[in-house]
Amino acid sequence: MLLIVGVFFFVFLINHLWTKRDQYRLSWKLNGPAMLPLIGTLEIAQGLSNEDAIELLKRSADYSSPIKVWLGPNMYIVLTKPEHVEIILSAPECFSRSSDYNFLKPALGDGLLSLDASKWKLHRKLINSTFNLKILKSFVPIFNKEFKMMISQISKIAGKYPIDLNEYIEPVTLDIVCQTTMGMQLNNQNNQDLAFVDAIKNALNIIMKRNLNVILWSDVLFRMSSYFKTAQRSSEVCYSFVNKILQKKKEEFKESLIDSSEHQGSRKPMVFIDLVMKLLMTDKQFTEKEVIGEINTIIATGFETTATTTINCILAMAMFPECQEMIYEEIKSLKWNKDDDVQYEDMSKFEYLDRFIKETLRFIPTIPFITRTTSASLQIEKYEIPKGVTILIILSTLLKDKESWGPIANQFDPNRFLPENITKVHRYAYIPFSTGPRNCIGIKYANIFLKTILIHLVGNFKFKTELRMSDLRYEASVSAKLINKPMVYVEKRID
Ligand code: HEM
Repeated sequence: MLLIVGVFFFVFLINHLWTKRDQYRLSWKLNGPAMLPLIGTLEIAQGLSNEDAIELLKRSADYSSPIKVWLGPNMYIVLTKPEHVEIILSAPECFSRSSDYNFLKPALGDGLLSLDASKWKLHRKLINSTFNLKILKSFVPIFNKEFKMMISQISKIAGKYPIDLNEYIEPVTLDIVCQTTMGMQLNNQNNQDLAFVDAIKNALNIIMKRNLNVILWSDVLFRMSSYFKTAQRSSEVCYSFVNKILQKKKEEFKESLIDSSEHQGSRKPMVFIDLVMKLLMTDKQFTEKEVIGEINTIIATGFETTATTTINCILAMAMFPECQEMIYEEIKSLKWNKDDDVQYEDMSKFEYLDRFIKETLRFIPTIPFITRTTSASLQIEKYEIPKGVTILIILSTLLKDKESWGPIANQFDPNRFLPENITKVHRYAYIPFSTGPRNCIGIKYANIFLKTILIHLVGNFKFKTELRMSDLRYEASVSAKLINKPMVYVEKRID
């Protein structure tokens, strides 16, 4: 029996080494942590928590890019230099993300985030139009209305006790993302029914746990694990939430077709839900499954990243009061008053705020890494990267690389984004939203959201915290999620 197992293992090992021979050949030439065939990089093989993963990403700074890392039987090429990142993000051979994103599918379905290159191209081309400037500008009144409601909620407890930012930022973000993309008013700010928020967080968290644990890659073993039930429950909540939206929208769409020819042949830009409904109901370009996947993806990506970045910005303001005061001075100098709406046309005037948001995204990157899979071999310096290899671009290292950002890379300084300073930095050294054809579809949306919410918040309140940057602990989800409760003291501004 032992002999049969031994022979079976030997054949399996030889087959593995033969099919991956190009990867092993490359692996010999690259630097990176020690590994064993099939088992992979030793410190990862022991199993990592989502928090360990963030620490491990930081350690990529100890090696020079390109770096090899083995996760079980798969090699990852880790990149941390802007010159290397440029090759990958602009290459047509790298339009697909890694197969790790398949773990998203049970929870969110197939959407922009997880689709492979061929399908993704069509979906992205169609959905791009729903993020054009004309549509985004039309969202600003919704942002203002919802943020004013948030300000009045925070005002009730300002000065009394420290608040957990999650309790205020997550509901308003979900309300806004659902209103602007789905045309649905959830009123989470008042109901505090955050089952969907928790479901998304759990789903994204478990996806990362599966990525980090080779044993959980197998569907059979995952089903036997303790995570499966939570994943299933989260997926049910996400699907029933989105399904409710979809059924309601189907009815509305049918009625609108009877009432008028509003959607037929209309050249008017459509918001996301109107477009996907048209693609489903009249053009038949999307299936119902694809529509559900895209809705889930847009809500999850839009909500998670924007809420996390807003919280990071508020914490950074509370930790660097001199920056907070500069933002406040700018708000005052632009004659913005507490009860005013923020106008899209004025946003570019908030130059310091713009630099502050950019620096927060550099200092605490919301998305810690980007992945791609090579569909053909390509060259990085003297190394030939074979087809089928997963590339990992570590944003948390790239955004603090001393060669790009200088000796004070680890200091918080919004003025590094002054035009005279930032032009000296490599174009691919600052990519918190990624860049190239498969970059974030929501960059402009996020920028308008962040500026509007921060003007309302800083115009009304002063934030303080006892937390320091070194206290903040993050875990890898799809974004880097704060483990600590983001507690801040809030004081009303009197002048
Ligand atoms: C500060 C907030 C945000 C940050 C830092 C961020 C960052 C990113 C990053 C780094 C990627 C990966 C790109 C790549 O693989 O090259 C991404 C993808 C994506 N983001 Fe964002 N994002 C933010 C906000 C948003 C918003 C508001 C939306 C939508 C409402 C959104 C929707 C998406 C989608 C759909 C993708 C996948 C794009 C594709 O594959 O075509 N994101 N984002």
